[in-house]
Amino acid sequence: MRDGYRDITALVTGASKGLGRELALEPARRGARLVLPARSEDQLRELAARISGQHGGTDAEVIVADLATPQGPKQVLRELHQRDLSVDLLVNNAGIGSTGPFLDRPLEPQPRSVDVNIGGLPTLTHTIGAELVAHGSCGILTSSPRLNTGDSHQR
Ligand SMILES: NC(=O)c1ccc[n+]([C@@H]2O[C@H](COP(=O)([O-])OP(=O)(O)OC[C@H]3O[C@@H](n4cnc5c(N)ncnc54)[C@H](OP(=O)(O)O)[C@@H]3O)[C@@H](O)[C@H]2O)c1
Repeated sequence: MRDGYRDITALVTGASKGLGRELALEPARRGARLVLPARSEDQLRELAARISGQHGGTDAEVIVADLATPQGPKQVLRELHQRDLSVDLLVNNAGIGSTGPFLDRPLEPQPRSVDVNIGGLPTLTHTIGAELVAHGSCGILTSSPRLNTGDSHQR
C-alpha cells in the first residue's frame, strides 16, 4: 500500500489543522502528491515540509486561499491550471469545526462555514469532478458540516 498512491494527486482543503491535516497525511503516507489550499500559509508550509521530510517525493503544493469568498475557489482552480496540476482525489474538508451547544456559542464564525460549503465546495467539486470523470479516475470525499445544537437546548 506504501506506493499505492504514487501517481495520485490529492487536493485536501483545510489541511492546515484538525481533521484535514490527518486526511492529508494519509494519502501522503501512501505516496500521493498533495495540493493544500487553506488560509494559514505558515501551517500549510509546515505540513508540506513534514510530508516532504517523512515521505520524500514531489513537494506538496501550497495554495493560500479563502474558500468562503467567491474568488477563493476560482483562485485554487487558476493555480492548479498555472502549475499544470491535475487532481485525482478531492477531499472537501475545509469548514468550521467548533464544538459545544450551538446557542451558547457566538454566531460568528458559523456563517463562514456555510460560505465555505455553499460557495467553495460546489465550485471546486463541479470543475474538478468533471475532470476526474474525463480522466476515468474518480475520488471525492466530502466531510459534512457539523451543526451541533447541543443537548442542553433540547426540550
Ligand atoms: N471535528 C469534528 O468532530 C467534525 C465533525 C463533523 C464534521 N466536521 C467537519 O470537518 C471539517 C474539519 O473540521 P475540524 O474539526 O478539523 O476543523 P478545524 O480544526 O477548525 O479545521 C478547519 C480547517 O478548515 C480550514 N478553513 C476554515 N475556513 C476556511 C476558509 N474560509 N477557507 C479555506 N479554508 C478554511 C482551516 O484552515 P485555515 O484556517 O488555515 O483557512 C482548517 O484547516 C469541517 O468542515 C467540519 O465542519 C468536523
